[in-house]
Amino acid sequence: MASKVTIHSMQKMKEAGERITMLTCYDATFANLLDGAGVDVLLVGDSLGNVIQGEESTLPVTVDQIIYHLKAVNRRVSRRAHVVGDMPFMSYQTSIDEAVRNAGRLVAEGGAECVKLEGGAEFGDVVRKIVRAGIPVMGHLGLTPQSVHRMGGYVIQGRDEEKAKRLMEDAIALQEAGCSSIVLEGIPAAVAEEITRTLTIPTIGIGAGPGCDGQVLVIYDLLGMNPSFSPKFVKRYADLHQVIGGAVRSYVDEVRGGAFPTEAHSFAMKPAAKAAPAQAGVDEGEKVDALYGGGAKASGREKA
Ligand code: KIV
Repeated sequence: MASKVTIHSMQKMKEAGERITMLTCYDATFANLLDGAGVDVLLVGDSLGNVIQGEESTLPVTVDQIIYHLKAVNRRVSRRAHVVGDMPFMSYQTSIDEAVRNAGRLVAEGGAECVKLEGGAEFGDVVRKIVRAGIPVMGHLGLTPQSVHRMGGYVIQGRDEEKAKRLMEDAIALQEAGCSSIVLEGIPAAVAEEITRTLTIPTIGIGAGPGCDGQVLVIYDLLGMNPSFSPKFVKRYADLHQVIGGAVRSYVDEVRGGAFPTEAHSFAMKPAAKAAPAQAGVDEGEKVDALYGGGAKASGREKA
């Protein structure tokens, strides 16, 4: 088995010029798939507010909800990928103590190996204290969705000289505070490239051009799960909306028409016992490996 990705191996990847791949992940089935496909970093992002909960922003997501999803994704399932947990809105903004406590919960209860938080130099002390507690921190600059109301919407950031300069200062401040990597979201490619060249720690871009040390996307966007969502920064690698819609329509048709289930999907009575009858109370019935998708036990990875 390939060795676990850590903040140290990510640092070595930057130094060797190897691109880091990161995707969001919210459950064990996807964690198993993405880890098996070689994704370096799985982010249990607060984007789960949008894609799992159907909210209009990430703001309602709670620490308990991030922990719930982290438990499904953590190293029990993600044997190689580094697992990052997002610090949700108001879990680190009110006080440093609260921030350290919540970061600790993501690690101790959820199994995160790193926490991510949005914001620049103003969060330097928060980052310093979390790192001092032994928890790696990934920064997040640029279009930071938790500040949607301050930004006046999901607006590309750092487009003029002065704002680009502030982004650079924030990136340097986060690195100095102890961040081991930084997500750069929704900023001009040239600004992201310059920040990436300046920093010694890896940058992971989303809507920040090809000049970052790595890239991240929301897994549902990459898979084309929502046909009405196609922002410029997303590349769709599949059209699962079509595939899943088609499969489910076939299921509905077959159940309605009586074509599913057939004998092949059904269980028979035991043949009449000719030899010794089974012990009373012990049912030597037909067993299935696992119910409901295989769970953690029957992942299908070994069979692939
Ligand atoms: O919450 C999230 O998924 C994120 C990524 C898009 C970087 O923060």
